[in-house]
Amino acid sequence: LATAAFAQAQGAWPAKPVTLVVPFAAGGPTDVVARTLAASMTKSLNQTVVVENKLGAGGNVAAAYVAKAPNDGYTFFIHHNGMATSTALYRKLQYDALKDFEFVSQAVEVPMTLLARKDFPASNFNELVAYIKANKEKINLATAGLGAVSQLCGMMFQRAIGVQLTEVPFQGTGPAMNALLGGQVDVMCDQTTQTVPQIKGGTVKLYGVTTKSRVKVLPQAPTLHEQGLKDFEVVVWHGVYAPKGTPKAIVDRMNQAVRTALKDPDVVKRMDDLGAEIVDDRTNTPEALQAHLKAEIDKWGPVIRAGGKFAD
Ligand code: MLT
Repeated sequence: LATAAFAQAQGAWPAKPVTLVVPFAAGGPTDVVARTLAASMTKSLNQTVVVENKLGAGGNVAAAYVAKAPNDGYTFFIHHNGMATSTALYRKLQYDALKDFEFVSQAVEVPMTLLARKDFPASNFNELVAYIKANKEKINLATAGLGAVSQLCGMMFQRAIGVQLTEVPFQGTGPAMNALLGGQVDVMCDQTTQTVPQIKGGTVKLYGVTTKSRVKVLPQAPTLHEQGLKDFEVVVWHGVYAPKGTPKAIVDRMNQAVRTALKDPDVVKRMDDLGAEIVDDRTNTPEALQAHLKAEIDKWGPVIRAGGKFAD
C-alpha cells in the first residue's frame, strides 16, 4: 500500500493545493517573496499554491511545524537566514535545520535598509548615530523577534555603534513597519522587499543599506560600510524546504517549479523593483541550498554567540 500511495503521489502530484508556509506575518517582506513565487508556481504546477503564515518565535514556530508536517509533498516552507541563525540563538530548538528538512532551492537575495520613523530627528547617518548615542534609553528598535533578520541586523548595528536599545519584537516586520509608520517605534532594519515602496513614498527615513555595494533601486542610499561601519554586511537569502522524507521526485518537481518562477517575467520584474536579486542556476539547486545553509550556520554562530542574546 505504501508503495502504491508513493507511486500515486509521484504520478498525480500535485493532486490538491500545495501549502507554502511563511514564518512571519502577511504583508511583510518574506511574505511578499512567498506570494510572488506562489502566484507563479500556481500557473506552472496547474494547482494552487496556498501561502500560510505561521507566526511566532522569530520564525521558529513555523520551522518546527514544517519539520513535523506530513512529508507527502503538500507542505513546503520558505525561510531566510533565520534557518541558520536560530541554531545559535535558541538553546532548545524543536527541530534540526540540517536534518529535519529536504532542500528544494534557494530563491532570492535581499538587501536590508536601516530606517527610522519619518519625524525622527536625524537627517543623515552621522546624525542618527549621534542622536541614538545621546538618547539611547528612550529609543525603541523594532524587530521580528530572535531569529529574524531585522533582529540580527539590529543587533549588529547596536554593537557596531556601541549602544543597547530597547528591542520591541513583532511577529514579522509587516506589523513592525505599521508601528514605525504610526510612530510607536523609532528605528528598524528591514528588507527592501518591504521597504522600497515606503522609502520611495517618503513615509520613512533611510540611513543606509546593509550590502557591500549600493542597491540599484536605491542609488541615493550609501552603504553602512561606506559610512563608517566597517565590513557591515547583512544579505538576506531565502530558501525553500520540505519536511524530511518528502519523495525526491516531488522535491525535484518543486525545485523545477521554483526555477520556472524565478524566470517568470512577472516575478523578475517584481523582485527587481523591490531590490531583490534572483539567484542564478548554480544556486537554485537542492545541493546548493544545503551547502549554503551549512556555511551560514558556521558563519553566524560566532557572531551571534558574541552578541550574547539567547532564548530557550
Ligand atoms: C525578518 O525580520 O526576519 C523578516 O523581515 C520578517 C518578516 O518577513 O516579516
